[in-house]
Amino acid sequence: MKILGIESSCDETAASVVEDGRRVLSNVIASQVEEHKIYGGVVPEIASRRHTEAICGVVEKALGDAGCTMDDIDAIAVTYAPGLIGALLVGVNYAKGLSFSTGKPLVPVHHLRGHIAANYISGEEIKPPFLSLVVSGGHSHIINVKSYTEFEIIGRTRDDAAGEAMDKAARTVGLPYPGGVNLDKISKDGDENKYKFPVPKVADSKYDFSFSGLKTFAVNLVHNASQKGETVKAEDLGASFIKAVTDLLVSHTMEAAKDTGAKTIVLAGGVSANSRLRRVMQEECDKRNIKLFMPELKYCGDNAAMIASQGYYEYLDGKRADLTLNAVASMPIDFNA
Ligand code: KG4
Ligand code: ZN
Repeated sequence: MKILGIESSCDETAASVVEDGRRVLSNVIASQVEEHKIYGGVVPEIASRRHTEAICGVVEKALGDAGCTMDDIDAIAVTYAPGLIGALLVGVNYAKGLSFSTGKPLVPVHHLRGHIAANYISGEEIKPPFLSLVVSGGHSHIINVKSYTEFEIIGRTRDDAAGEAMDKAARTVGLPYPGGVNLDKISKDGDENKYKFPVPKVADSKYDFSFSGLKTFAVNLVHNASQKGETVKAEDLGASFIKAVTDLLVSHTMEAAKDTGAKTIVLAGGVSANSRLRRVMQEECDKRNIKLFMPELKYCGDNAAMIASQGYYEYLDGKRADLTLNAVASMPIDFNA
């Protein structure tokens, strides 16, 4: 069964054809990064306009690369939540139009469910149940994935998302957008023990995260140094910051694995591309005999193959949308319409 996936929740216009939820036949991404870089972050209005311009060509290319026409497609899966509302609307409306004109079923997909599904297309045989750490620009969750379509949030951030914190720290040391990737790159030459960040604790939950204090700590370090006429080496601050964030992500995930008895952990979301997070998570899982899955780097960031993959499982579960489908800016992963 072939699913056409469409993704436009942030600054990537993407389309992909995936067979039986696992075999990627095409994966096309039109990134707007270069344009948003000028402004230091994603400008929602610009994102919507670029999606509108790109979407037809991106979908046509995805079909062409897969050697398909719409006749070969069994269903259209589209990201409808969460994300930038104007950006989401472009993909949702395009998918609705395509569904109406071709008569193919329309399957709405939650963006974070898609990030988890990025693991299904990354080669290895992996099936729920498992524990997932989902870390993106807007979310940081520890999730009990009970089945392909049943999710239970057991830990979440109380303030910034991990990716958002990475981006803010990158800006503090003068790195251009996209911050997280650039911070990761320069940190490889830094001393991660140079600055000792506080370990944030959330009073009534051992799984929840808080990252905003780490960001403030980084900002204060830079300001205090500049007041004394000193400079902070970006590589060292970046490495120390990444250590603080990733140690927190790993330790909370290990705690959740211990308590739930999970023997499989799955990383997901843009921050799962972080080299230290991947390394330390692997080391800690090895120590505990836990099997770790991580998406291939090309599927860590936003793409439509992960949406088509999750769309397949949502389709099998009977999920369908009609032409009243709307985009939703904010929606928990465990919401079932
Ligand atoms: O999942 P994603 O592509 O978009 C959202 O759904 O939000 O995640 C984007 C986030 C950004 O905050 C970006 O800085 C972060 O993922 N990110 C990274 C790395 N690559 C992307 N953070 C740390 N290290 C990386 N290598
Ligand atoms: Zn994403």
